[in-house]
Amino acid sequence: MNLFSSVHDIDSIQNMVTEALALKANPFAHQSVGKNKTLGLVFLNPSLRTRLSTQKAAANLGMQVLVMNMDKDGWALETQDGIVMNGTSVEHIREAAAVMGQYCDVLGLRSFPKLQNREEDYSEDLFNKFVQFCGVPVISLESATRHPLQSLADIITIKEHQKTSKPKVVLTWAPHVKALPQAVPNSFSEWMAKAQEEGLIDFVITHPEGYELAEEFTKGVRITHQQEEALAGADFVYVKNWSSYQDYGKVLPVNEEWMLTQKSLAIAPNAKVMHCLPVRRDLELAAELLDSNRSLVIAEAGNRVWAAQAVLKRILSA
Ligand code: CP
Repeated sequence: MNLFSSVHDIDSIQNMVTEALALKANPFAHQSVGKNKTLGLVFLNPSLRTRLSTQKAAANLGMQVLVMNMDKDGWALETQDGIVMNGTSVEHIREAAAVMGQYCDVLGLRSFPKLQNREEDYSEDLFNKFVQFCGVPVISLESATRHPLQSLADIITIKEHQKTSKPKVVLTWAPHVKALPQAVPNSFSEWMAKAQEEGLIDFVITHPEGYELAEEFTKGVRITHQQEEALAGADFVYVKNWSSYQDYGKVLPVNEEWMLTQKSLAIAPNAKVMHCLPVRRDLELAAELLDSNRSLVIAEAGNRVWAAQAVLKRILSA
């Protein structure tokens, strides 16, 4: 594996989950794989989980880690070609990525969308140019449209906690005061659609009208605007806000109550609750659920280590 940017970069979800759980059971069994290798983590946006879990995963494999907070500590980046750099940008991605590739054997990049121009964000121009010019394998630490390490950790968590052979997994939209990217729900949908194809789960998405995700991420997935209908009999409920894809980057008015509570989840008495974090309590998700034994959010964040370690091990073993 030379690139991990989406579910399309892996063969089978089941194999990846099995590999990750084997690493969880025996974290230091492959320390020689990363010996004398360097991982560079490049952040253009804030991160708690991705930063720490990926560093820990690399350390478990014997790697050295360099972290670059490009947004705060790096030169302002230019990504467009063919322009005279007489504005505020100081360094072109062509040189910046290539230089980082000189110092690292593997690179990870986090870059959020601007949510101003859909075409620009969904072209993944910055991420693709970074891959093109760095010259070493790249892991997405969340891009404009996807967050694959999060989705892998999510399916690991579902497989660990499932009580039935084919659990019902629901992705439900949640309210928020800010416009958030579609990267996590896009990616979650893409991974769950593949897991459904592999016969591992049943998957349903529910959201208010106007919050339809791009079709490329929801192929073969049942979608309903009726949250109660979607939640009925659910085994896992994945809570996430996202801004509109159609009316790009907008927070649309929603009249009904969409925040998941003990009351709204009564229709799914066995359901566990998931969220990628960070979460805004009692806005996106009721604190009563977060603080209950129905919440898997901490286990899910913990599994980010094994997701990252499984991906790094594959890249280093290629
Ligand atoms: N879930 C997630 O990616 O968290 P961070 O943004 O803190 O890395």
